[in-house]
Amino acid sequence: MTLTREIRPGVSWVGAIDWDRRLFDALIPLPGGTSYNSYLIQGSEKTALIDAVDESMADVLQNNLKVLGIKRIDYIIAQHAEQDHSGSLRRLLDLYPDARVFGSARCLDLLMQFDLVGKDRLQEAKDREKISLGDKSLQFISAPWVHWPDTIFTYLAEDRILFTCDFLGSHLACSDLFAVDEAVLYRSAKRYYAEIMMPFRQSINRHLDRIWDLPVAVIAPSHGPLYARPRFILDAYRDWASDKVKNQVVLPYVSMHDSTRIMADYFVDALISRGVGVLRFDLTDYDVGDLAEALVDAATVVIGTPTILAGAHPLALYAAILANALRPKTRYASIIGSFGWGGKMLEQITVALPNLKLQFFDPVVAKGRPKEVDFQALDRLAEEISAKHKELEAA
Ligand code: FEO
Repeated sequence: MTLTREIRPGVSWVGAIDWDRRLFDALIPLPGGTSYNSYLIQGSEKTALIDAVDESMADVLQNNLKVLGIKRIDYIIAQHAEQDHSGSLRRLLDLYPDARVFGSARCLDLLMQFDLVGKDRLQEAKDREKISLGDKSLQFISAPWVHWPDTIFTYLAEDRILFTCDFLGSHLACSDLFAVDEAVLYRSAKRYYAEIMMPFRQSINRHLDRIWDLPVAVIAPSHGPLYARPRFILDAYRDWASDKVKNQVVLPYVSMHDSTRIMADYFVDALISRGVGVLRFDLTDYDVGDLAEALVDAATVVIGTPTILAGAHPLALYAAILANALRPKTRYASIIGSFGWGGKMLEQITVALPNLKLQFFDPVVAKGRPKEVDFQALDRLAEEISAKHKELEAA
């Protein structure tokens, strides 16, 4: 099976769609699969390939190039060393012995560490350096920390195409080469941003600044559909990476004997009745990507947990550790839950969130089944959150 698609004369998508992949990094669920986009650029004198594909799809890339009759590749641009884009490099270098691999210094070092390329085939791609393919040219743009330190973008000025590797992408296996249903893609791209880009918000903003005024007709990421309307994804990233937060509470909770669940349910209603949006996650049955996406712009996170083995429930601790790793722009936090005879539940959740610059509201912890006094405390917490959110909106 082969599938190649022309983007512009001399510019083709030659990658692989991974319809069946359901997990990335042994962590991130991929409900919609993904794609590894690889691009062939044929100039009047030289031919370049931008990014390869995952090793599991090396046959697909090889066949795509064979069907197009590609006998020689001069340059392989490794925009990023992670194996979903570089795993098939060794195969490509065997097939195309004249090809040299361009990448940032960090990328080239990583490719050697991963044993994918020998030193003699490597060439550093410096920031703003341009290489000529004859009637087309490729300019490299350094873009470290769009989750790894090695990434570059590549700009094809003659066709106004910006290749952005992971940046601006989405994990979505899709028959459309270009984004067609922007509502679907918005969710997919936001989830992807949350899982991969969100911890590097400051770098994301810097990279957006650098490419903002570039004349770009097409954005071509290395996962998911391309964008023929670049403003759609650029504006979405600007919003997600900004300091603006929404009048929303993310409430991941777990309950053993219903006490914490009763509190969570009461608290949800207390927030809604005060005009605060709630995104509620039962931690015994949820999708990590959905929780990550919810954290992108909510103003507050409240973790609900019972006390077990003298501490917080491990599922609640996992949610806290995940939020800490993803570094959302969340401003406020609190904890609700229950205990029978004591423990270090509050302390464990609080210390699991050192990366977040949070203002904590007083927790609400019930002894056993929640009683009137606990419901009043939940009302008080909902009132405090609502007031703080209104202050943010007014600011
Ligand atoms: Fe798609 Fe960071 O690799």
